[in-house]
Amino acid sequence: MRRSIAGRLEVVLVEDAVPAARILAREIAELVRGRGERTVVLGLAAGRTPVPLYRELVRMRHEEGLALDEATLVQLDEYLELPAGHPASFSSFLRRELLEPAGIPAERLIAPPCDAAEGERELACAAIEHAIRAAGGIDLQILGIGLNGHLGFNEPGSHRDSRTRVVELDEETRRHAARDFGSIEDVPRKAITLGLGTILDARRVRALAFGAEKADVVHRMLGEDVGPALPASFLREHGDAMLVVDGDAAPW
Ligand code: F6R
Repeated sequence: MRRSIAGRLEVVLVEDAVPAARILAREIAELVRGRGERTVVLGLAAGRTPVPLYRELVRMRHEEGLALDEATLVQLDEYLELPAGHPASFSSFLRRELLEPAGIPAERLIAPPCDAAEGERELACAAIEHAIRAAGGIDLQILGIGLNGHLGFNEPGSHRDSRTRVVELDEETRRHAARDFGSIEDVPRKAITLGLGTILDARRVRALAFGAEKADVVHRMLGEDVGPALPASFLREHGDAMLVVDGDAAPW
């Protein structure tokens, strides 16, 4: 493991996703075990990248009694206009990879309000912001990085202070998601995402990037100017953010 710093972002180089999962699962376990009166609030990404982390958390739940069922979980984003229970939805993903195997009741998850009627979405998104604040704010946010530098579904051009809202997905994002839907035509065009401001309000932010397909975006997020053209670059300004990469994603 090697550590370096880009701006205020700590970059940790690991061999592969397995040690990365161990590092972050240990950190989450310390938060959960060390909590005071308030339950720990974890922000969770879907996608391929965090799967080994969720498997490690499930293992710790069963083998070490980690009280994950007492945490509050916040789902980072979700596609709009998918039938309930669609296997490629992020809520199905989180249920499958974490909630069910770890025995976490569905009520512990704060999820994007994709079932709200179109005219009520804005209010429903504001209610998510309120629910996060009422829970005490996100203690630790897990993120993957999009090939175009998106965080959650905050695509390039998203404002630093954006909050939870409906967004249009970039073509590159839809192309990447086609692997989960079978074809690009089946990938929704819109989604609801926590905003960049919502994400960056988290006390700790932990981003993961593995594999050669992420090398270009990791290189850009460490070297390009911080700004909306590359939302992931904002992590360099967060006071407690870490990027964990493997050798294939590391641009050095
Ligand atoms: C998922 C999400 C996305 C993904 C990103 C990387 O909840 O918000 O930003 O983290 O697109 O996806 P993977 O991990 O599949 O490469």
